[in-house]
Amino acid sequence: MTERILAPLRGVTIRAFRETFAVPIAEAGFTEAVTPFITATGRFDPLRDRELRPSSAAIRHPPSAGHSLVLTPQFIGKDPAALKFCLERVKSAGYSTADLNCGCPFPMVRNKGRGSGLLRTPDVLARMLETGCEAMGPGKFSMKARLGVDRADELLGLMKVVNEFPLRFLTVHARTARQMYGGECDKEAFKAIRDAARMKVVYNGDAELGYADGDVMIGRGFVRALGEREDIGELMDGYLECSRVELDGSESAVLGRIKELLSYWKGLRRWRGRWEVGKLARNLDEIRVWR
Ligand SMILES: Cc1cc2nc3c(=O)[nH]c(=O)nc-3n(C[C@H](O)[C@H](O)[C@H](O)COP(=O)(O)O)c2cc1C
Repeated sequence: MTERILAPLRGVTIRAFRETFAVPIAEAGFTEAVTPFITATGRFDPLRDRELRPSSAAIRHPPSAGHSLVLTPQFIGKDPAALKFCLERVKSAGYSTADLNCGCPFPMVRNKGRGSGLLRTPDVLARMLETGCEAMGPGKFSMKARLGVDRADELLGLMKVVNEFPLRFLTVHARTARQMYGGECDKEAFKAIRDAARMKVVYNGDAELGYADGDVMIGRGFVRALGEREDIGELMDGYLECSRVELDGSESAVLGRIKELLSYWKGLRRWRGRWEVGKLARNLDEIRVWR
């Protein structure tokens, strides 16, 4: 089966987003969504995270498109015992898959050996993958990584380690951590990893909805395309309402969330003026620039 996965975008492809935009997500052919990362510390029960908490009855679910989306919780961390605790918790709640973040590029994260920092500590990476595959079971745990931290051949050099584990798949964002989210994706470096991998390798990085080259994870391209929909106004009303309930009426948090989404559309002609108004909105009435 070809994978088409909705990318984790912290603050964007969050639970309220996945619930509100369930129909467009299904129409775009996504079979799975990976949650934005949840920190695996061992001190915090991941089932209390907003991403995984049982739904509040007050949140109105949009009509389903008759399509079921696999939801895979993603964890970030470097402590195998903490990861094991988190995976046992999510498994007990019925999740059958989980993912390890080996890609977060922010220096504060990677310098502490988390996210893409795991690519610099192969022993720790191996213990995290071993823990993940043991806790979830063979073929149930996946990993999402960059090509490397500074160079595009670092992950390739680690494939001997990665290949030892029965991973569900390996998602590769075809940039180095140093590149953050800009600059070109390196398709050749991606192919070298795909050729060296024993497991399925999912492409990620600047893919558009029309991508037809096989297994893919798409984030920003999907979010941008939502701005072109005829029904975007209704959807945004739903997102605002869902966020208001979820964030317990905190107006500034709701505004921040909506502005983050609107910012994806500022390059679209019909949104340019609306974005200029929306980014300055001080309350929930002013933010409804789609009306
Ligand atoms: C705002 C933002 C938040 C992100 N949060 C996460 C995250 O929580 N976990 C993760 O693995 N990747 C995260 N990413 C990376 C994306 O999942 C993806 O790898 C990247 O955006 C490239 O894919 P795209 O060009 O299709 O968006 C984030 C990216 C952005 C822009």
